[in-house]
Amino acid sequence: MDPSSVVARRRTFGTRLYSEANDGETGRKVNTLVLVLFGVLCMTQATLNIVLRLYFTENRGVGPVCENITAQRDDLQQKFQTLQTKHQPLSEQRDELEKQLHDKNSVCENITAQRDDLQQKFQTLQTSHQTLSDLRDELEKHLPNIDSVCENITAQRDDLQQKFKTLQTSHQTLSDLRDELEKQLHDKNSVCENITAQRDDLQQKFKTLQTSHQTLSEQRDQLEKHLHDKNSVCENITAQRDDLQQKFKTLQTKHQTLSEQRDQLEKQLHDKNSVCENITAQRDDLQQKFRTLQTSHQSLSEQRDQLEKKLHDKMSFAESHSEQNWRFVRGSFYLSDGSELSWRDGRQYCLDRGADLIIINSPEEQKLAMSFGKRSWIGLTDAQQEGVWRWVDDSPLTTSFWHPNEPNDDKGNEDCVEVLPYEPRHASWNDMPCDGSFTQILKEVEDMEFKWTLFSSSIVDAAARRSLLPVMAAILELSRGARK
Ligand code: BGC
Ligand code: CA
Repeated sequence: MDPSSVVARRRTFGTRLYSEANDGETGRKVNTLVLVLFGVLCMTQATLNIVLRLYFTENRGVGPVCENITAQRDDLQQKFQTLQTKHQPLSEQRDELEKQLHDKNSVCENITAQRDDLQQKFQTLQTSHQTLSDLRDELEKHLPNIDSVCENITAQRDDLQQKFKTLQTSHQTLSDLRDELEKQLHDKNSVCENITAQRDDLQQKFKTLQTSHQTLSEQRDQLEKHLHDKNSVCENITAQRDDLQQKFKTLQTKHQTLSEQRDQLEKQLHDKNSVCENITAQRDDLQQKFRTLQTSHQSLSEQRDQLEKKLHDKMSFAESHSEQNWRFVRGSFYLSDGSELSWRDGRQYCLDRGADLIIINSPEEQKLAMSFGKRSWIGLTDAQQEGVWRWVDDSPLTTSFWHPNEPNDDKGNEDCVEVLPYEPRHASWNDMPCDGSFTQILKEVEDMEFKWTLFSSSIVDAAARRSLLPVMAAILELSRGARK
């Protein structure tokens, strides 16, 4: 048999049982029946097992019978298993049905309770319905009167509604008015409190004032008495004052006049004093200047006399120099002497003539030295220290015009310097042994005083000449110092 069809059939059976089990008693019976069937099956199996065991124990060795019985047993076992297999779904179905039955029982109990409740309500409703029916019948009796009553009530309601609205409006107005009045009352209260405080304050002040007024009244009375006394005194004094005022005015006028006169005189005196002081200062200044000028004049007169004497001497010197072929260049006299002497003798020759060997410090003087056209000694030597060249006035050599490859201190014996009258003319110095014989170029020893005399005599403006005096004096002083 197809298992699914068995299950289906069992379900149909179950459904039927269920539908039958709608009645609680029937369900319980089915349940009991199934349990009894299952118990019978178990009992049958147990009985078979016992019978077979007994049979095999008594008839051991009896082959065919045994085989038959064995076959029966196997067949029974087969059936038992089949039955067991069927038993399982059946048990499950039963459990399922039991569960459903239990649920349905609960539902049924619930529905029963509802039904009972409804029955109760129905009875109550029935009673109420009866009452209402009675009432309706009663009312139906009164119905014809109700309409007029109703109209009356409607009218009353409308009237009341109208009144209510009016009252509502009035209520609103009154509420607003009340609020406004409350606000005003609050404001007035504040004002009132303020005024009360002011009143209290004023009362306090009034009392103080009253006391003060009393005191003042007493003082006033006292003063009035004093015033009366003083008035007579005052009248007397007033007369005196008027008299004095008159006198004071007269005096004031006089005082004014006198003050003005005094001020004018003081001013004049002050002016005169200033003028006098000024004139005195000018006089003193002039006296000072005069004394200075006198001293200066004295000094200048003496200088002039001295210089005039010197100028006279120099003029005669110049005349004699000119006669001896001295050349006057840039305020100095130069001479190339024809006699040939050693450097030292040559120098002495110069000194004896108020001159010295030429010192060449500029291209112009170099050019002048070359213009004599002779080999001539110049005032330069390193006799004191080899290689350290010095001029005869002990000044160091700064500007030199050495011939190419000179000075060479030939044979270690050349300490004095000559000018060579050859080209290049701007480089013509050669060191030579000092005992060589050459002519010498003489330069008159600088006489600043004489130069100044010549220079100042050319300045026509006396004031300008005078202003240069201090400068010249300083230069002369330096010149004298240098010569010593
Ligand atoms: C040299 C000079 C030197 C001179 C002496 C010349 O040939 O160039 O430097 O002083 O001889 O006589
Ligand atoms: Ca040389």
